Amino acid sequence: MRIATLTSGGDCPGLNAVIRGIVRTAAQNGSTVVGFEDGWQGLLEDRRVQLYDDDFIDRILRRGGTILGTGRLHPDDFKAGIDRIKANLEDAGIDCLIPIGGEGTLKGAKFLADNGIPVVGVPKTIDNDVNGTDYTFGFDTAVAVATDAIDRLHTTAESHDRVMIVEVMGRHVGWIALHAGMAAGAHDILIPEHPFDIEEVCKKMARRFQMGEKYGIIVVAEGALPKEGTLEIADREVDQFGHEKFQDISGLIAKEIENRLDTEVRSTVLGHIQRGGTPTAFDRVLATRFAVNATKACLNGDFNKVVALKGQDIELIDFEEAVGTLKEVPQKRYDTAQNLFG
Ligand code: F6P
Repeated sequence: MRIATLTSGGDCPGLNAVIRGIVRTAAQNGSTVVGFEDGWQGLLEDRRVQLYDDDFIDRILRRGGTILGTGRLHPDDFKAGIDRIKANLEDAGIDCLIPIGGEGTLKGAKFLADNGIPVVGVPKTIDNDVNGTDYTFGFDTAVAVATDAIDRLHTTAESHDRVMIVEVMGRHVGWIALHAGMAAGAHDILIPEHPFDIEEVCKKMARRFQMGEKYGIIVVAEGALPKEGTLEIADREVDQFGHEKFQDISGLIAKEIENRLDTEVRSTVLGHIQRGGTPTAFDRVLATRFAVNATKACLNGDFNKVVALKGQDIELIDFEEAVGTLKEVPQKRYDTAQNLFG
């Protein structure tokens, strides 16, 4: 069998572990693997490389980013290219495609499956927002990086008696903010699923100071928004891929707290540091298990599925379960975290 793979959307620690896992599993079963460069764009432009089960592939396990490159494509441009995609896959003699990506990529993979292309999807994102899987690889690494950063901010915040606002990634959901915030003992966590009231945020900090504490740490997901009518915020612009551009929510919150409380406030945006670098052991193992199971699904002709972590096991789920809605932080998870706020 001839398998193709590609990585699409924002990069994520563990992508190379998946590529390695696919190539090695395929080789052990007498199959070969081709990689398309830069996500869907490379598939449309037929930019492909043969991937060999060699020393180079073996060593990419611990390497961040993706050796195939990645990119984003507007869904309309992608759909318009379906005939070219079919022709390129046929020309390369591909029997099954394994796209590795987030919800947007999996939507694209479903579109290909609906158009008769044999596909097995592998979910990835540091945001952990793909439905149907308990975790995506990349998330654990992002949480570890953010936790380390927040630990460091604790010591400088307490030395200067400051409130620190730490902005982490999380476009639509607050998983990174919730986990890193809990792990690092944040005094408040603001996530997109729960619009915040700046008055309440300030009260929590004020209460801390009344109790004799002199500093505070607030973790905010980049996509967090104030409750309607509580804080003026400019309309968000939309980029060429239809994604909203963020507007320094941590800076805005910092300014508000400084104005309302007599205290010094600083904001830090962790940004792409959370997405770079070597994956944690957990992410390497999850990425490898996804790869082996996706490759086996291809080899068994179990097409048009997505690999997913369910409890301790990797299962194959339908595209419908993985796409359409995002996996948000449930209320009860946020409620648990709230016990430690203030
Ligand atoms: O991978 C998802 C994500 O990490 C979001 O949390 C974030 O908003 C986005 O990627 C940023 O990606 P880029 O800067 O590559 O457009």
